[in-house]
Amino acid sequence: MPTNDHTKTKKGKPIVVIGNWKMNPQQEDGAVKLFADIKKLTNKKNAYAQTGIAAPFVFIPALAAKNTKSRFALGAQDVSSVLQGTHTGEVSIPMLKGFGVTQIIIGHSERRAAGETDEQVRDKTHAVLKAGLTAVVCIGEHTRDAQGDYFSFVQSQIRSILQQLPKVHLKRLMLAYEPIWAIGTGITATAEDVHEMKLFIQKCITDHFDRTATAQVRILYGGSVDDKNAQSLLEEGHADGFLIGGASLKPAVFAHIIKISDDHYATT
Ligand code: PGA
Repeated sequence: MPTNDHTKTKKGKPIVVIGNWKMNPQQEDGAVKLFADIKKLTNKKNAYAQTGIAAPFVFIPALAAKNTKSRFALGAQDVSSVLQGTHTGEVSIPMLKGFGVTQIIIGHSERRAAGETDEQVRDKTHAVLKAGLTAVVCIGEHTRDAQGDYFSFVQSQIRSILQQLPKVHLKRLMLAYEPIWAIGTGITATAEDVHEMKLFIQKCITDHFDRTATAQVRILYGGSVDDKNAQSLLEEGHADGFLIGGASLKPAVFAHIIKISDDHYATT
């Protein structure tokens, strides 16, 4: 089982670092090797950051078999909002749970671009949280405009997710702010942008619930995170963690981001 619950030993919440492998690699042996390389390079001592890997569905059984005594939680990149039935091509929450998956990315912009709606994102999020798993729900604007209209876009995504969500589920909700213009482009949002958006997201949650509710939700950043910008995104951006695409396929870079996150937690 993953040994990444450090909430009891330190004050504050550990930084979250989740690798989103997207549709990589192409073969199971490549996935197993990538996971082994990442594990080899990451500390098990002082492993403060809460780390996870979201692999393609088909590789999850192989990774689960290798995930003994690892600090990594197993994740998936999508899931069906319904638990069973006539849904060709879908994968259910119980199927994933059966392999020890504990966290699921929902509403990634690449899925939204393929047609996923706010309503589908909400249904999936609520189903995942109800099942006792962590939902890592992606939000973020396509572009930024001088007037700041992108704030209303993000606000409507958040409102949709929170609609009729029981407050008791918030402790397993993570919102990943991933501005689409920063994903896979090498252009990262500045630490200032990230801090400003975090405060805005928190205000949206407070408006919907209250401040105690807001304190429970972790707000991650994603979009061209690497080992050069991670530190300032934590320190000045106040990100609660990262959702990492491209850099999660490079074991040395990913391990370095995890080390930065471990150290940040240990020293704050
Ligand atoms: P990136 O992807 O780190 O390659 O920009 C992030 C994501 O899409 O989750």
